[in-house]
Amino acid sequence: MPVSSAPTSASSCSARGDEVICVDNFFTGTRRNVEHLLGHPRFELMRHDVCFPLYLEVDEIWNFACPASPVHYQHDPVQTTKTSVHGAINMLGLAKRVGAKILQASTSEVYGDPQVHPQPEDYWGHVNPNGIRSCYDEGKRCAETLFFDYHRQHRLRIKVMRIFNTYGPRMHPNDGRVVSNFIVQALKGEAITLYGSGQQTRSFQYVDDLIRGCMKLMGTADDVVGPVNIGNPVELTVRELAEAVLRLTGSRSELVYRPLPHDDPMQRCPDITRARRLLDWEPRIQLEEGLGETIAYFESLLGLRSPRSMALAARTAVPAVAPTAAAPVPATVPPAVAQRSLPEAVCAPAVTTLENEAGVAA
Ligand SMILES: NC(=O)c1ccc[n+]([C@@H]2O[C@H](COP(=O)([O-])OP(=O)(O)OC[C@H]3O[C@@H](n4cnc5c(N)ncnc54)[C@H](O)[C@@H]3O)[C@@H](O)[C@H]2O)c1
Repeated sequence: MPVSSAPTSASSCSARGDEVICVDNFFTGTRRNVEHLLGHPRFELMRHDVCFPLYLEVDEIWNFACPASPVHYQHDPVQTTKTSVHGAINMLGLAKRVGAKILQASTSEVYGDPQVHPQPEDYWGHVNPNGIRSCYDEGKRCAETLFFDYHRQHRLRIKVMRIFNTYGPRMHPNDGRVVSNFIVQALKGEAITLYGSGQQTRSFQYVDDLIRGCMKLMGTADDVVGPVNIGNPVELTVRELAEAVLRLTGSRSELVYRPLPHDDPMQRCPDITRARRLLDWEPRIQLEEGLGETIAYFESLLGLRSPRSMALAARTAVPAVAPTAAAPVPATVPPAVAQRSLPEAVCAPAVTTLENEAGVAA
């Protein structure tokens, strides 16, 4: 049986017949993110902090537990480093005890403010060891070190995945990440905040593509250990992202500029040659499609409708029936656009234990 650490992967693993234990201390995650799984016979939710040892019988571990947005990881930087480092030690200890395969959700932040573009896995990075982002960047770098040392020293079966910017439904509305920030500001009709000139670039991957990459990596032969970049190589400026959000919401929010935070990388773009070769993987979801799903999620979460979805609803509304003596005209016609159901995948991770009943390869 496997162990995983993310509601998103928990959804996917339950769907393929695994038994899943989702472990989360709810520091940034919520029960709401896994509510749709709570009655599932092969799913179990456990409140636990990975900074403490965990004793379970599992055969896969997906170690995603860590605050990941600057607002969250800078709120308690010491706890952030502990989560990455002690969390890795505890999960690796568990994997060693039960002989489980273990996947680490590492990050493009291990490249810091990179001087090589796009970033291949053999680039060692350009990282500030004592800045305000270091708790996250260096914590994740140390976790990678631990993974590779457990592999070399204890022959542990490891998979290290470097995730680039990922977005999608079930993101936290106040986590300060650029996609959620822009969408929430646009839906509320508030000014959209750009840091610096807005010319810094990012590459955004939709959560379903990430999960497909995780499942593929976990299903590889034992000699595939990584690190493997999983991200979208299509690069765009932060200003272009803001413009896409305005276009897709129809919002008239203005763009305002604020000083760039310390250590904010100017350019971020994955080289995914290795993922293509080893996993036959590349992202499939286009930005507009992924943003559309994410906007629909935030509309439903916040109880707000964008000018664009109101216009669409009005356009697809059932036309009013001509009045007859017997049938009075309704005062308003209900919009024909039904509430959109959210995709299974979720963004906020936790820690999960799985049992693969079907023995299905990812
Ligand atoms: N989303 C991205 O763009 C991105 C990019 C690179 C790497 N990652 C990595 O993917 C993982 C998930 O990121 P996310 O964006 O979904 O973040 P998130 O904040 O939405 O999810 C993190 C989850 O970990 C839980 N958690 C935090 N500390 C914990 C602890 N000590 N014990 C148990 N649970 C704990 C939180 O409650 C939350 O459910 C993280 O490890 C992150 O570093 C994400």
